[in-house]
Amino acid sequence: MKHIAILGLGVVGKGTADLLEKNRALIEARIGEAVNIKYILDLRDFPGTPYETRVVHDFSIIENDPEIELVAETMGGAHPAYDFSMACLKAGKSVVTSNKEVVATFGEELLATARANGVSYAFEASVGGGIPIIRPLVNDFISNEIVEISGILNGTTNYILTQMKDYGKTYADALSEAQAKGYAEKDPTADVDGIDTCRKICILTALATGALPNAKEVGTIGIRGVDSADVKLLDKHAYAVKLLGRMQMQGGKPCLLVAPFVCGKASPLAHVDDVFNGITVCGQTLGQTMFYGRGAGADPTASAVANDILSILKDGKDSFAPAFHAAANDEVLPSAQFSCRRYVRTDADKAAVEAVLGSVTDLGGAYITDKSFTEAEFDAAAAKLGNMSALRVL
Ligand code: HSE
Repeated sequence: MKHIAILGLGVVGKGTADLLEKNRALIEARIGEAVNIKYILDLRDFPGTPYETRVVHDFSIIENDPEIELVAETMGGAHPAYDFSMACLKAGKSVVTSNKEVVATFGEELLATARANGVSYAFEASVGGGIPIIRPLVNDFISNEIVEISGILNGTTNYILTQMKDYGKTYADALSEAQAKGYAEKDPTADVDGIDTCRKICILTALATGALPNAKEVGTIGIRGVDSADVKLLDKHAYAVKLLGRMQMQGGKPCLLVAPFVCGKASPLAHVDDVFNGITVCGQTLGQTMFYGRGAGADPTASAVANDILSILKDGKDSFAPAFHAAANDEVLPSAQFSCRRYVRTDADKAAVEAVLGSVTDLGGAYITDKSFTEAEFDAAAAKLGNMSALRVL
């Protein structure tokens, strides 16, 4: 019998506990032993539920119980999630997490502590909900330099943008629905302002390059400013607006940007709707690959947490052992150098737009440039055109 503990019985923690209970027999057959959730740490009690007898309010009970081999941290937030995770690793317990804030902020230290104590720190659920992306990025691109990652990495904002595009819903109504479905963070500003996407693209960049960018230094623009007039006009021409976390290698260094991007129908990301996430990864030799699946919500996220738990319990120690370091200043390019094509909606006519931005595709009142611009180049050019609505193009 393997004994584990779960920290936090919220959406993901409860989903994980339910999954381990529901698939008890299958799990026992696959890993050769039963898995017992011995403790659940939460501030609340859960009377009348199957978990009520396992709830504890004192973390030290878990930390000091030698029977506990592994702890699933599904609390969210930086503290005390980080502190409890460190304590567990130092006590010789592996830790599995869905907490992208902790991984994006303290990942280097937590991985090093796991290594020093002969245990594992795994975080498949921190990016892409149920999509297997973390392990494949480390294990299956080992022969390739990863030259670009572009991802719809936040289910809440993708749900909102899809509802605005397909059903004409207001931003506020769509956000309330996403919250009711358990997709959103406790504070949904982390979703809509792109902070959650930023943490996730930083984690993917760390795995791809070995250097974890400082999320606070990555240019991050959320979806509050997306104008439904642009969403509608673009939809008519089979373009979709998606909040993307992007990393492109330029001269051997990663450059990151989080922003709403216009995706053309030729891009698989344009067809990723609702709570689904989609991530394209371009390997230098392999070319483009795509990962797709449910990016938020109890069941998909719990599936990724449970997979990490079982991978570790099966062999005693996980073979998945990534390492990365916090990037030094000169290891990551400033987001201002991110380069992409642009969409503009303006009263200026095509000739006036082309005089400033070069050749464009005419969408009738709006244009897409053929040429790519860095942030600074575009700001300088756009100033000559006056009032406009602008978006970046994938
Ligand atoms: N709030 C996140 C999202 C949860 O909407 O994608 C999954 O990380």
